[in-house]
Amino acid sequence: MKVCVVGTGYVGLVSGVCFSDIGHQVVCVDNDQLKIDKLRRAEATIYEPGLEELLQKNIKQNQLSFSKELSASIKDAEIVVIAVGTPANEDGSANLKYIEAVAKEIGQHLTSYKVIVTKSTVPVGTGQKVKGWIKEQCGEIPFDVASNPEFLREGSAIHDTMHMERAVLGVETEKAAQYLKNLHAPFNTHLIVTDIETAEMSKYAANAFLATKISFINEVANLCEKLDADVTKVAETMGFDPRIGAAFLGAGIGYGGSCFPKDTQAFIQMGIEAGYNLKIVPEVEKVNFEQRKRLVDKIELAFSDSLKGKHIAVLGLAFKPNTDDMRAAPAIDIIPMLLEKGAKVKAYDPVAMDRAMKIMPYVDTAESWQEAVKEANAVVILTDWKEFKEIDLDVLKSKVTDPILIDGRNVFDPVEMREKGFYYDSVGRKKMSIEGDNYESIDHRGSGIYRQKLS
Ligand code: UDX
Repeated sequence: MKVCVVGTGYVGLVSGVCFSDIGHQVVCVDNDQLKIDKLRRAEATIYEPGLEELLQKNIKQNQLSFSKELSASIKDAEIVVIAVGTPANEDGSANLKYIEAVAKEIGQHLTSYKVIVTKSTVPVGTGQKVKGWIKEQCGEIPFDVASNPEFLREGSAIHDTMHMERAVLGVETEKAAQYLKNLHAPFNTHLIVTDIETAEMSKYAANAFLATKISFINEVANLCEKLDADVTKVAETMGFDPRIGAAFLGAGIGYGGSCFPKDTQAFIQMGIEAGYNLKIVPEVEKVNFEQRKRLVDKIELAFSDSLKGKHIAVLGLAFKPNTDDMRAAPAIDIIPMLLEKGAKVKAYDPVAMDRAMKIMPYVDTAESWQEAVKEANAVVILTDWKEFKEIDLDVLKSKVTDPILIDGRNVFDPVEMREKGFYYDSVGRKKMSIEGDNYESIDHRGSGIYRQKLS
């Protein structure tokens, strides 16, 4: 099929590239000339494993092209996909100004029947608004609108798209359903055909549910800490039940990213506007933020006095591994809290350094984890990058001033940490080196005070 994708952000670019790779003829449109130039050279504008290879391949095979001109690009398209951003308004609701502008422009240049599909995450009812915006511009020219939200995850976006578990096709006519079925046929996936409003709602409900799962397990983790249980084993036990499922039961410092925080807020706002106040989702958000604060408390607890002047090495800034995305990353909440308490932070991330420093230019940075932890009074893990999982703990211990490791992502094994002589605190697991454990002597060697294992 001939497809035009408007917007080359995460969703638009990945979808466009994958549509071209499964055999459709795709043109991606963006009004940012620099982006278009870069993409034409097959250079990825986002960090996403596998993306550049697919760009190169499909541009070379003339399956994929990039343009700044919307009017020329939609001319021959059978399907036009809207994938522009929906930033949050101050009240958390989704701002539709980019969607509106694109819909009107499509309407102005419509010359023949097309299906105009919204892929951006938009509040229920947006499909009808898009229809109105197009109609007021194009008069009698026939078209259909549809909703086909995207469920891809950053860092595995290509894989998620190529192997999607399902696609929801929100349509109003049989013809539009057939177009979208043809578009998805090569993916060989489960198709759910429904109305536009239901498709729009599905995306919010799915994201809010996943966010709920994370906050739920984080609350279980907090209780585990009080009652001396281990949340990883609890989650494993729960996860084997197919009614629960093992995914998204990883306790930690809460979710971040471009979707969950924004979508849960928009979901709450949608409820308020519709006259039904959601009760669970606002609590999910509260628990998520509390989780950041709890980690800072744990760092403070490791020192008997205060964090003033303490050198804290922060490992990991991106909201999760395999991405340079800093949007709503826990680091953005946690680092300022540490600085506020007088700590000196040295931060390192394998990929997200540049983006992180645009948001927090005041933070001292390191070129490697080895440099970040040098003479640190405590090491704090905020992102579970593979590079950190593979850290040689003996090397780490030899570089720091105080062997204190506060792990916001449960990367290390508490027993091993105890054996290596670390003060180790993580999320929802037994703290290693606490009174009553084997760590009763207090060692004042470094500037920090930590309890050392009795031999
Ligand atoms: C998410 C959804 O998974 C995806 O379907 C939707 O289209 C967009 O939003 P993404 O934001 O890329 O994708 O990241 P995801 O892998 O879902 O992780 C989101 C956040 O939750 C991360 O900060 C991650 O660290 C955190 N998380 C995830 C946990 O804290 N625990 C878990 O068990 C899983």
